[in-house]
Amino acid sequence: MPKQPISILAVDDEESFLNVLRSVLEEEEYFVQTATDGIAAINVLQTVPFDLILLDVKMPRVDGIEVLRFVRERYLDTQVVMLTGVSDVKIAVECMQLGAYDYLAKPYSRSELLAVIDRALERKRLLIQNKALRSELARHALSPFMIGQSRQFVEVLSLASRVAPTDTTVLIQGASGTGKELVANFLHSNSARKEQPLMALNCASIPETLIESELFGHEKGAFTDATSTKQGLVEIANGGTLFLDEVAEISMMMQPKLLRFLQTGEYRRVGSNKNLKSDVRIISATNKDLRREVAAGRFREDLLYRLNVITLQLPTLRERKEDIPLLVEHFLKTRVRAKEPKRIDARALELLMKYDWPGNVRELENVIERAAILSRDDFIRVDDLALPIGTRSMVDSLAQESGGVRLGGAFSVSEIEKVHIDGVLKSVNWSKNIAAKILGISLKTLYTKIQQYNLTRE
Ligand SMILES: Nc1ncnc2c1ncn2[C@@H]1O[C@H](COP(=O)(O)OP(=O)(O)OP(=O)(O)O)[C@@H](O)[C@H]1O
Ligand SMILES: [Mg+2]
Repeated sequence: MPKQPISILAVDDEESFLNVLRSVLEEEEYFVQTATDGIAAINVLQTVPFDLILLDVKMPRVDGIEVLRFVRERYLDTQVVMLTGVSDVKIAVECMQLGAYDYLAKPYSRSELLAVIDRALERKRLLIQNKALRSELARHALSPFMIGQSRQFVEVLSLASRVAPTDTTVLIQGASGTGKELVANFLHSNSARKEQPLMALNCASIPETLIESELFGHEKGAFTDATSTKQGLVEIANGGTLFLDEVAEISMMMQPKLLRFLQTGEYRRVGSNKNLKSDVRIISATNKDLRREVAAGRFREDLLYRLNVITLQLPTLRERKEDIPLLVEHFLKTRVRAKEPKRIDARALELLMKYDWPGNVRELENVIERAAILSRDDFIRVDDLALPIGTRSMVDSLAQESGGVRLGGAFSVSEIEKVHIDGVLKSVNWSKNIAAKILGISLKTLYTKIQQYNLTRE
């Protein structure tokens, strides 16, 4: 896949001049569009944004200054270089005060032209990078390195690899901690848009009233706190990717606006009636079943169909337990600071394999990080694995340890109770006070049960 081309709009009323300009720029593999007057330029700009505009100062009807104003109001990152005859240099300098990046006085050489374009594009790149750095995703700086060899995981990964280089809208579904954000990162960094920003919005963490301005930006004075014009994420992400995390939380009020953007690429800043355009690929993620949300009237069906052109369903860790050893090794290497990565002993690994992992890969990552800190030497042992005791999943794994009894099997309640109480007692080294708390029964009842089931310490 070719790199996303840089787009340049060249505007000049002298057509022969424009043709030369076009051929020089195309030789450099820029994507070029031309316009022969200000009105034509504005028309083009209303349909697509550009990275850079080469703008003649003097043109009939609408001149360069007006086009510059139009651009500055709408496309904050687009760089403008004024082209001017010697007699208009003064105007060109004024244009710089209005926000043009630089000017070139005619006649100029090919190398002067290319040099100023390079500098202007570098400035744009830095502007965007600065903003992207502030984005949530950049802070997390997740390496798009995905571990797993199980069939369930490899299937999703292979589908992800196939859709990554396209512009397709992708919905990532999966329980909490299964790696949705990691996959979003993977999709972006394996796409032709990877040099452009990946901006993330967590729809659950932002108050409903602010989501629109986060996404689409606002004009100065649009509401009380809007003291200056603010670019929305769709604008900053232009040419790149927008990641809508926890997309099920987008309010019914906001959904039509998002839908319209998905359909047309058009949006409006809050407090403005001007349509803007941006070209972003949308990746969204949720741990909810969006069809159910649709059925419950909380999510628009038409929006769902726009978002889930391709759906990646991430398996839970429980469904791919064979990947646990690989993941453990990976976390010991990457998340733990040690000269030599610590190792895990066989009993501890066995326990990890039995546990149910309601928090999925994130929970495993935390358990390993904590264990590595707690362990006193190069080995992580059962005692270092502070797995949450008393959760259903732990009960299950303890039950398995104790007598091969699986919950939900053909056992009477008292058989399960016996195995369970025995398991909990063992897990807390027979501290009856703690066991009673975990079991939610009184100490007296616990003693009674121990007698009744004939439980002993060894
Ligand atoms: N396949 C994997 N290989 C390596 N690390 C992984 C993998 N999947 C998840 N992780 C790690 O697990 C942690 C949780 O992943 P991530 O934040 O992507 O999950 P999520 O599905 O977005 O979770 P939530 O629903 O809670 O937002 C991250 O630190 C991530 O790096
Ligand atoms: Mg997430």
